[in-house]
Amino acid sequence: MPAKLEAIRADITTLAVDAIVNAANTTLLGGGGVDGAIHRAAGPELLAECRTLGGCATGDAKITRGYRLPAKFVIHTVGPVWHGGNRGEPALLASCYRKSLALARAHRLGTIAFPAISCGVYGYPLHAAAAIAVRECAAFAVAAPAIERIVFALFGDDALVAYEAALARLPDANPGARSPE
Ligand code: APR
Repeated sequence: MPAKLEAIRADITTLAVDAIVNAANTTLLGGGGVDGAIHRAAGPELLAECRTLGGCATGDAKITRGYRLPAKFVIHTVGPVWHGGNRGEPALLASCYRKSLALARAHRLGTIAFPAISCGVYGYPLHAAAAIAVRECAAFAVAAPAIERIVFALFGDDALVAYEAALARLPDANPGARSPE
């Protein structure tokens, strides 16, 4: 059965899922926004493990344990900084979702939560980012039915509206049934 996709208004650090995704930077050494919140909630062991990873390229993803978080794992991905859309930002953002989902699949995880990657400090327009996030996750849900639930954990009403609109544009009630584009 393809994964259920859903958008909720939530602090991602509170979600007891198999993995939460962190919108990190290339150093993987923490920052503000959701990165800062995840590191604060996970405790210092998270940073200690991140130090062993040697950073992360934009569009790529790396996995660590979740430590004091309710989530078992953290998948750290680095979204593109928005420069107007002509410097490969859409493809890099799509890659963040694909690489994160591929790690979840490789680790046989059933539930994963994403924040609105790149939509804060990195300035990616919400509706464009939501369309990419939902498209990539819906396609993956069909290709990898082992993933049961994909949650978009959104911090503000504007983000929730953007993601709900993107989900509503999927061809049927169960977005996971969508055929890959
Ligand atoms: N739970 C869910 N979403 C959150 C949380 C949280 N606790 N905190 C912030 N957000 C939302 C923001 O409101 C935004 O919609 O996450 C989205 C991503 O925003 P940022 O955290 O600013 O991430 P991003 O735009 O990808 O910029 C990454 O910011 O924090 C630094 O180290 C990070 O350099 C990197 C950059």
